[in-house]
Amino acid sequence: MSTVVFLGGGRITSAMLAGLRLAKVKDRLVVHDRNDGKLRALKRLYHVDVERDLLKAASVADLLIIAVRPDSVRDLLRSIESIRRPTLAVSVAAGIPLRRLSKALGAPLRWARAMPSPVCRIGRGLTAVTFPATLPRQDRKRIRNFFLNVGQVVEIPETKFDAFTVTYSSSHGYHALATLAKAAQEAGLDRNTALLASAHALADGITVWRDGKHLLKSLLEEATTPGGIAEATIRGMNSSGYRRAVQRGMRDGLRQASLLARGK
Ligand SMILES: NC(=O)c1ccc[n+]([C@@H]2O[C@H](COP(=O)([O-])OP(=O)(O)OC[C@H]3O[C@@H](n4cnc5c(N)ncnc54)[C@H](OP(=O)(O)O)[C@@H]3O)[C@@H](O)[C@H]2O)c1
Repeated sequence: MSTVVFLGGGRITSAMLAGLRLAKVKDRLVVHDRNDGKLRALKRLYHVDVERDLLKAASVADLLIIAVRPDSVRDLLRSIESIRRPTLAVSVAAGIPLRRLSKALGAPLRWARAMPSPVCRIGRGLTAVTFPATLPRQDRKRIRNFFLNVGQVVEIPETKFDAFTVTYSSSHGYHALATLAKAAQEAGLDRNTALLASAHALADGITVWRDGKHLLKSLLEEATTPGGIAEATIRGMNSSGYRRAVQRGMRDGLRQASLLARGK
């Protein structure tokens, strides 16, 4: 049995563990975090092993997942630099490039990056992976298969990683849902009906597109009667800067990724 060790037992680790349990993976799952309370909760919820000693945790890993916040990665790697066992390591930390990871801690670690989504909690995640040219084929396969347990996997070049990270976040959906539902309440709906109507507008419409039978352009036309209410609503949103707001948000996200990459 292979041992997968998560360093960092926060939000994304918790979502991944839920998805991995749902998928009934056979790997031994071990988590290290500096907060005892989080470890106890993860053990109770997902029946994982917990290891309070960081170096001991890292030393038993066949697959090591670095899941601390980007500004904690350097110190964490420093604390495990005496690791001797050849280990495949995957960083899920946003923004931090492979060259910085392998500079902070090189061999015996073999590095890759992944960007999983918390939607992996229900097995419908989307994970981008990227590999250095030197990473052996069986390591790439191991990583792809691991993340396939919790949803779809796409391999992209590292140069596209930040753009993917800024785009794919499920926070966009939650943010759009919260914003639309708030406006619906202001228009007179009660909270539950506002959320129900907004969730249908966003999620169910997009599910039709994901079925793959219809073009986005045709679906948009179908839902927008000329001279009707939807058309007027979209026009109002666009003329108030909807597209500009989204582009501006994306730019700010990319700028943050580049600050993280430089360790700021
Ligand atoms: N959340 C997401 O949707 C998502 C998606 C994809 C990728 N990611 C990436 O995943 C990483 C973790 O994000 P998150 O949202 O899960 O953050 P989080 O909830 O803050 O989890 C990180 C955990 O690691 C712990 N930690 C930090 N330094 C440590 C150390 N030296 N030793 C032991 N434990 C340590 C933190 O403890 P303290 O709280 O005490 O600092 C915290 O419990 C980030 O790099 C992020 O970019 C997140």
